[in-house]
Amino acid sequence: MLSLFSSAGIGELGIKACGMDILLSNELLKNRCDLYHENFPETESICGDIWDKEQDIIDKWKSKKVGAPFLVYATPPCQGMSFNGLGKLLAEIRAGRRPKEDPRNRLIIPTLRIIKKLRPDWVLFENVQTMQDTIIRTESDDYQNIIDYIKDELSPDYLGCAEVVNCADYGIPQTRVRLITIFTKSEKGKRYFKKHGSFLPPRTHSEIASGTLKNWVSLKEAIGKLPYLSAEKGKNECPNIKWHVVPIMKPDKFWWVCNTPANETAYNNQCVKCGYDKTPRHGMCMEDGRHQSRKDTPIFCAKCGALLPRPSMIDSKTNERRLIRGFDSAYRRMSWEVPSPTLTQNFQYEASDKKIHPDQNRVLSVYEGMILQSINNYNYSFTIDKKPISRVMCCEVIGESVPPLLIEYACKNILKIDGAYEKM
Ligand SMILES: C[S@@+](CC[C@H](N)C(=O)[O-])C[C@H]1O[C@@H](n2cnc3c(N)ncnc32)[C@H](O)[C@@H]1O
Repeated sequence: MLSLFSSAGIGELGIKACGMDILLSNELLKNRCDLYHENFPETESICGDIWDKEQDIIDKWKSKKVGAPFLVYATPPCQGMSFNGLGKLLAEIRAGRRPKEDPRNRLIIPTLRIIKKLRPDWVLFENVQTMQDTIIRTESDDYQNIIDYIKDELSPDYLGCAEVVNCADYGIPQTRVRLITIFTKSEKGKRYFKKHGSFLPPRTHSEIASGTLKNWVSLKEAIGKLPYLSAEKGKNECPNIKWHVVPIMKPDKFWWVCNTPANETAYNNQCVKCGYDKTPRHGMCMEDGRHQSRKDTPIFCAKCGALLPRPSMIDSKTNERRLIRGFDSAYRRMSWEVPSPTLTQNFQYEASDKKIHPDQNRVLSVYEGMILQSINNYNYSFTIDKKPISRVMCCEVIGESVPPLLIEYACKNILKIDGAYEKM
């Protein structure tokens, strides 16, 4: 198979586990390519922008003289399509800092050109759910829904669809909702699709167990037995478990987090001096038709006037202490009872959405991130030239990766549908 936008090849672990050979890959960033090479030394990897490398990718594949790829796996970046990305994008457009078009959403154009030249049996795209609502400027300067564009470009030879998938429904301890788009030109595949309308395997888990469906895997089940850590010097790392490490928090932030009860945000913390617990909580309000965080949430106790352990700072202009602006999902503890929320590249930033450990004073460790993304089920080395990569890079590649278990299930089903298991 051929992997486009391969990053460090984490999703590809699931493809390899199915017994497929990854013959060629393409990725923009040199450090991702280096990490990829460490883990897939047998794969030829083309490092650079797909717009520039398009012909190179086609030529390199053809020079292998193996015929058409069985599968092209393409996972373009999602920032332009994600809810977060979209919100940020709209704000930037409103402020006149960004053009109305995100060039990242047009990466599908060279991707489809490569697919049409190499004519794989199967194509698998992974992206955020909002991909299905994304409008792009096509090669002929029309504006079209990206999924319709894929369908139009691949028809009439290919048949398939985009499907919304929650990783938790496949036993991955994370409610990561994604769009899996699969198309095929295999006759068996097309027959299967006409009958079933989907290429995905049946889900195995559900929010509430019923029949053969098991309960979602909770955060407690996934990481509840790992050794205790704290975001303080000397307590932030476990010597016996590689990557079970968290960043050290600044003292003020650590104080806010220490005083945050289960399932709460530091924005609702109450007085630690007099114990008064009725100072108004943080909340949301509507402004310009959009949800905004409240700006008037008190930071001093309504009874004794003491500073509350809520996110606040000294304003450099007024020299006075003020609330740090933020939604009440920021500085919020995750819940033990449910799977983790979607892991992103900033899963170790306490100020980001629901990033605080359920009952310890820290964010998730890198190792916990690996578990929640199902990477720990596979052999993967976070090293370049045998030296460990930085913690920050490790979080970046975990956050931008596709859970390999999801890809393994999807690819196993493709192989089953195609009867390709017998051929292997
Ligand atoms: C979502 S990540 C890939 C995830 C990975 N395939 C997996 O399964 O875990 C998207 C990758 O696309 C890369 N990328 C972004 N723009 C690109 C471009 N113009 N050409 C090639 N790769 C690009 C990014 O650097 C990033 O590593």
